[in-house]
Parts: sequence; structure tokens; C-alpha cells
Amino acid sequence: MLVLGIESTCDETGAAVVENGRKILSNVIASSADLHAKYGGVFPELASRRHLEAIGPVVKKSLIDAAIEPKEIDLIAVAYGPGLVGSLLVGIEFAKGLSIAWQKPIVQVHHIEAHLYAAMMEVELPLQLPALGLVVSGGHTLLVKILDVGSYEIIGSTIDDAAGEAFDKVGSMLNLPYPGGPLLEKMAEKGDSKKVLLTAGVVKNNPYNFSFSGLKTAALYALKKGVKMEDLAASFQETILLDLVKKAKKAALSFEAKAIFFGGGVCNNKRLKELFKENFTLPLYFPSPTLTLDNGAMIAALGFEKYKACGPSALSFGPRARIPIA
Ligand code: KG4
Ligand code: ZN
Repeated sequence: MLVLGIESTCDETGAAVVENGRKILSNVIASSADLHAKYGGVFPELASRRHLEAIGPVVKKSLIDAAIEPKEIDLIAVAYGPGLVGSLLVGIEFAKGLSIAWQKPIVQVHHIEAHLYAAMMEVELPLQLPALGLVVSGGHTLLVKILDVGSYEIIGSTIDDAAGEAFDKVGSMLNLPYPGGPLLEKMAEKGDSKKVLLTAGVVKNNPYNFSFSGLKTAALYALKKGVKMEDLAASFQETILLDLVKKAKKAALSFEAKAIFFGGGVCNNKRLKELFKENFTLPLYFPSPTLTLDNGAMIAALGFEKYKACGPSALSFGPRARIPIA
């Protein structure tokens, strides 16, 4: 079964062709990050306009790269949220248009579930379950118990900034252009994390929840006091990553997780991988770099599973800014 996956939740326009939910035949991504660089974060109106320009060429390239004709596509999968409504609308309406014009079924896919599924689609079956899932992206920080594909229990999430968002905002304090995460990681390599003392937030009522806004403010004050930028970057990165490790460890022990599946852009961070490897003996599954950031392949792959389980979606679905995963 050949699935065309379309992704437009934030600032990346993605389209991919995936065979039987696993074999990636093409995965095309156009980012509008350059447009947002000077604003220090995603400017929603500019993102949706860029999606409008990019969606046609990106989908076309995904078919060309896969050497596939539209008539060979069996299913269209599209991310319907969570995300920016204007951005989502472009991908969803384009996908619906293709579904009508090509007479192909369509299936709606949850974007964060797709981030989690990105690591699962690459491992040998059967999956080691129950597993812990950790999504750390620009928009989301989520710890979940994975019972099966499509069956999750939320353990913890952020009550304010997402991990990637905190990286980007502190990056912007350090004069790094958006998205600051990868550049902050480079800067941190030259610093000493012990020179600046920072702590991550503790959330009352749920020890598995995350809070990074206080950490961000503390970073700003430290910077105003004149600490070395590289030391601040190192300390900020170490603090946020150790908080992820600590809560993941507690969660994994609580239900004897058999493995951990990671998703989202922040799991590209080398120090994150190092710290998890040091702290866990469980199998750790990180998606390949092309599947960590927003992309159409994870949407196509999960779309295949959703279609097998529940059939097609009715064309009446629309964009959803917020939707729980479980
Ligand atoms: O998964 P993604 O595209 O975001 C959303 O779906 O929201 O990931 C983008 C995020 C950005 O915040 C970016 O700064 C962060 O992932 N990121 C990193 C690294 N690479 C990407 N953060 C820290 N270290 C990295 N190496
Ligand atoms: Zn995402």
C-alpha cells in the first residue's frame, strides 16, 4: 500500500511516500525557519503563507522522488493537529483536494503521535511493550506510557514552555537565530555547565510534569549578571536534559518499561543521547535524523496504521490547534 503523507502543522511543509507503513520512498521537507529567524520564533501568518507556496511543489517532488504516479497512491494521510490553525488548514485542504481529485481515501493523523511513531516505524517487530515514549519538540514535551500503537496513557507534560521552545528562547537570549536549539548545543560544547547554577521547575501535584519557564528567567538573570555565554548554554542544556532523564527514569521504573521511544527535534541533541545512554540499561530508540523534525514520512507511516485499524476519515474533519494524545 502506497501512502502519501502531508505535514504542515508548524513551519515545515512536508510530503512523503511510504510503502506499507515502513519503507520510505521519498521524504521532502521545505522549512520556512529562515522567515522566522528575525522574530526569534515562528510568525504564524508568514508560516501559513509559505505553506501555500510550498505545498504544491513539495507534494509533486515527493511523487517524483518516489517515482510514483498519482494513480498508484492508495491513501492520503494528513496531520490535522495539534499545531497552528492557519498552517494546518493549508495541508488539510490540499490533502482533501487530492483525495477528491484522485478518488483516494484520506486519513487524519495526530502530529505528536506521529513523532512518537517515527521511532517505532524503524524498529524490528514486535515492539517491546509497554514502553515509555518521550516527545521533545519545539511545541511539545510529553512523557507517555505506550501500551500499543494508538493506545497511550499520559504520564507528564509541560505546564508552560516545551523543551525545544525553551532551547530556542534561551538561544535567542544568546543572540542565536531561530531555531536556536542546535546552535545552543554547539555553544554548550565550549562551556562549563558547573560554572552557572540553574534548576528546572518542580510541578506540584504531578512529579512527572515539566516546567521550564522559571529556568528561562533564571538564565536571563544569570546573563545580565555577566556570566560567560558558553557556560550559561552548557548549564541550561545540562539542567533541562537532566530533568528529562530524571522524570523519564522515575516513569520507566513505575511500570517497568521494556524500551524507550524518543521523538521530536530535541532528540537530535547529542548530549541528550549521551545522558540517556549513561542512565538507562533499557533499549533506547531514537528516530533517524530525517524523522525527528516535522516530516511527512511519519504522517504517512502512522496514517497506514490508522487506516488499517479504523478505515478512512470522513472529509468533514478540520484543523485542531490542541488535541490530547490519549
Ligand atoms: O520536532 P520539531 O520540528 O518541532 C515541533 O514539531 O514542534 O523540532 C524543532 C525543535 C526546535 O525547537 C529546535 O530548536 C529543537 O527542536 N532542536 C534542538 C536540536 N535540534 C533541534 N534542540 C536542542 N538540541 C538540538 N540539537
Ligand atoms: Zn512536530
